[in-house]
Amino acid sequence: MTAHPSFLRPETAALAPYNAGLSAEDVARRPGVTRVAKLGSNENPLGPAPGVRQALLAALSHVAIYPDPAGRALLAKLASRHGITADRLVLGNGSEDLLAVLARAVLRPGDKVVTLYPSFPLHEDYALLMGAEVVRIGLTADGGINVDALVAAVAQPVRLVLFANPMNPTGVWLSPADLDRVLDAVHPEAVTCLDEAYHEYAEGPGYASAEARLATHGRPLLILRTFSKAWGLAGLRVGYGLTNTPELKRGLDLARTPFNVNLMAQVAAEAALADPQSVAEAAALVARERPRVQAAIEALGLRVLPSKGNFLFFDAGRPSVALAEALLDKGVIIKPWKQPGYDTWLRVSIGLEADNDQFLAGLKAAL
Ligand SMILES: Cc1ncc(COP(=O)(O)O)c(C=O)c1O
Repeated sequence: MTAHPSFLRPETAALAPYNAGLSAEDVARRPGVTRVAKLGSNENPLGPAPGVRQALLAALSHVAIYPDPAGRALLAKLASRHGITADRLVLGNGSEDLLAVLARAVLRPGDKVVTLYPSFPLHEDYALLMGAEVVRIGLTADGGINVDALVAAVAQPVRLVLFANPMNPTGVWLSPADLDRVLDAVHPEAVTCLDEAYHEYAEGPGYASAEARLATHGRPLLILRTFSKAWGLAGLRVGYGLTNTPELKRGLDLARTPFNVNLMAQVAAEAALADPQSVAEAAALVARERPRVQAAIEALGLRVLPSKGNFLFFDAGRPSVALAEALLDKGVIIKPWKQPGYDTWLRVSIGLEADNDQFLAGLKAAL
């Protein structure tokens, strides 16, 4: 058989499948598994605010009609939360949708996209799909962001600078001073997208969102946030972008599908915003459990990178896929990293105390 049928665009055929991992139901069916610890997708095990459930039940009566394509009620609440006008906000079917929309809106074949590596694979995939060229900035030997290399790369005439802060899968982040250094260095014609999917876990000393730079950056800036992580709504698919440039907002709205955020997702996000206490609880759980899990992995002699996300990235020193498979037999789902150069590394989400204990016991036994 040929490498790919000719009707596919070569850019499509060349993509690696997204490594979404197994569902809890799949793993629960394995012999001997009595409890599943789902720690592969950085979800919030505490779930959303209690008001979300009532809001969803009430919204069930309206599912026969299309949602508001502009998501005005949700945009108004987000605008008030962020102290900006709604014409600087764009909604996505998850923030991953906005990554694709951004690529469609700005990238031409041959454009350069600077990103950090290892990365959230979709940061690269949508760029490659548009025929753009990805410039990867790898980590330093001690596992930190190579700020000098990043600064030098973004100063070149590139179309897009796109990376997560904190990074996924590593969890490492830019200090506020380094974030400023990078943003100050960006080429005058480049669009910058900071993916802040893990912002709510990272807030605090030593980390800064790029939000304060919206007013001062002077070039197109897009900050992505999501309701999938600390807000506990991963199943409903809703994310949003904050921008400083009306033309960018307009371009993103043109390039997205008209009804990209469904009615239930809009309603749930609005209800979640009304009760931010649940986010504080999710962040507190991670702040409590992450250092404990990190110390326990390190006690097994493995290297763990520092993290401000609700996950840890560690080097098992042996093939990650086989290790992840052994953990599945113990009911533990974690993500073996599949990007080149990281095939002994795995990412584990921080779950409930019992999930984390199950992971640590499974890891110890599997090693
Ligand atoms: C860095 C980063 N960006 C974006 C996403 C996508 O999130 P969602 O589409 O659920 O908003 C994820 C999910 O894991 C992520 O880790």
